[in-house]
This record gives sequence, C-alpha cells and structure tokens, in this order.
Amino acid sequence: MTQPTPSARSVAFIGGGNMAAALIGGLRKSGTPAARILVIEPSAAQRQRLLDEFGVTARTAADAALADAALVVWAVKPQFFAEAAAPCAPFVGGALQLSVMAGIRSQAIARASGSERVVRSMPNTPALIGRGIAGLYAREAVGATERAQVEALLAPTGATLWVAREDDLDAVTALSGSGPAYVFYLVEAMMAAAVKMGLSEVQGRTLALATVDGATQLALQSPLRPAELRSQVTSKGGTTHAAISSMEAAGVAAAVVTAIVAAQRRAAELGDEFGG
Ligand SMILES: NC(=O)c1ccc[n+]([C@@H]2O[C@H](COP(=O)([O-])OP(=O)(O)OC[C@H]3O[C@@H](n4cnc5c(N)ncnc54)[C@H](OP(=O)(O)O)[C@@H]3O)[C@@H](O)[C@H]2O)c1
Repeated sequence: MTQPTPSARSVAFIGGGNMAAALIGGLRKSGTPAARILVIEPSAAQRQRLLDEFGVTARTAADAALADAALVVWAVKPQFFAEAAAPCAPFVGGALQLSVMAGIRSQAIARASGSERVVRSMPNTPALIGRGIAGLYAREAVGATERAQVEALLAPTGATLWVAREDDLDAVTALSGSGPAYVFYLVEAMMAAAVKMGLSEVQGRTLALATVDGATQLALQSPLRPAELRSQVTSKGGTTHAAISSMEAAGVAAAVVTAIVAAQRRAAELGDEFGG
C-alpha cells in the first residue's frame, strides 16, 4: 500500500467544541474535504453539530485512524487534557501538535503525545467570528514549514503573533486572552454612565459599542500612537479633559496595569497546576 503524501494526510481535533468548530469551519471554507478532518468528541450533541455544520463525522473515542493525522489539534478544556490524551497517545506521536488549550505547557503536551513538535497557541473569543488574535509559541523541534502550516490553520480565526519564550504566553493570556472581558467591562461602565445621565440602556449600548469599534479602527489606521490620538481630542478645559483628569485622579491606568499583571500571575499558576 502506498503511504499518503503529507499534504493528503488528515488534521485531527481532540475535542470538538467551540474553538475546534471555528478552526474546522476555516478548513472547510478553504477547501479541505470533510473526510480529511478527524474529530474525537464524546458529546453526541457536539458530534451532531459538527456533522450538520461542516459535514464532518466525529468519533466518540480515539482509535487507529488518528495515526493518519499529520497535525493534531488539542482543543479540550485544560482540566480534561490528561484524560483525553491517554487514549490518543499510541497514535499521535508522529504528528505536529497544536494546542489551543489555556495553561497546559508545551513540555506536558510533548510528554503526553510522544511528539517534540509542539506549537502552543493562546487564542481569544473573537476567534469565533474570525476577529481574534492568537499568541503562538513553538518548541525547538518545530520547523518553518510547520509554523506556516499552523498560521494557515489559524488564519480564518484572525491574526497571529509569535512569541520567542513560552513564559510570554502568560502575558499574552493576560493581555489578549482575557482582554475581551476588559473591553466588555469598560462598555458596561459606559452603559451605566449612559443610564445615569438619562439615556436608555439600549442607547448607551449602541453609543458605547460604536465608539469602541470606531476608536479601534481609527487607532489601527492612524500612524499616531494611542496617546497622541488621545491628546488630540483632549483640549484643556474641555469635556474629554474633565473625564481623563477624573480617571487619572482615580488611578484607572495604574489599576488596569495591576489587574493585567494579576492575570499573568494567575496564568503562570494554572500552568504549574496542570504540570509541565
Ligand atoms: N473559545 C475560545 O474562544 C477560546 C479562547 C481562548 C482559549 N480557549 C481554549 O481552548 C480550549 C477549548 O475551548 P472551547 O471553548 O473550544 O471549549 P469547549 O467548547 O468546551 O470544547 C471542548 C470540547 O472537548 C470535549 N471533550 C471533553 N473531554 C474530552 C475527551 N476526553 N476527549 C475528547 N474530547 C473531549 C468537550 O466535550 P463535552 O462537551 O462532552 O465536555 C467539548 O466539546 C480551552 O482550553 C480554552 O481555554 C478557547
């Protein structure tokens, strides 16, 4: 029997939840046949969703078909990693491993999978609508072609950013992984202010979200740094000046820095808890 060429080999997903579905959707759109996508997913409801949305038939448990995969994507919740990895281990040692799991270190994935070729990614929830950003870290054994393969797989979920040290993924987790929640928190506060000033909650939501979106687009398209864009609209004695002065007096910027560093510390602790 002839060996399949690397490009004709499958991509396997261990866990077929939300993150896996976002990546499988991208693969299908870019022309990967459903038959080349393997998924191990114990939940019947999730398996049905993958079949309905992408025509992909998921399996309930690991089996020898996994050995056909050139790329194995780990997409279970971190607390289920050890349990999910044990039955897969006999079949996946020859593949490139990509993890989207928060907190599990590459050493633990290398040990559990039997492959030193491990890339860890830290995505964020806008990935589910193709607007995420994922931090990426590769172990030494991962080559340039394999890095490109991972970038191509993640492209439909948004942007990617490589970091050179694995510890930097804890900072990525704190900044962009947890970051959408910080933005929602700001929007909640802006909505509360809207109501306090007599606008409706719906009006507050519309104004706050359009402002965050517009300001983000402006900052992305402008050659100016965020601090310069801010000072442009903060004339002395004006309304923006009144708000920013109040925030500075309350120590908002310093509190945000402290909060994000706390998230980084928690990410490192979770890595220790999961081993590796
Ligand atoms: N969603 C995001 O945008 C996002 C962002 C950043 C990081 N992440 C990370 O990505 C990972 C996956 O997140 P998710 O949102 O995709 O979670 P999810 O929707 O809960 O998906 C995990 C899937 O894995 C399945 N599973 C559980 N045990 C398994 C096993 N032993 N073997 C095979 N499959 C198993 C689960 O099935 P059951 O439903 O039966 O439990 C579930 O369908 C997590 O580590 C998360 O922290 C996700």
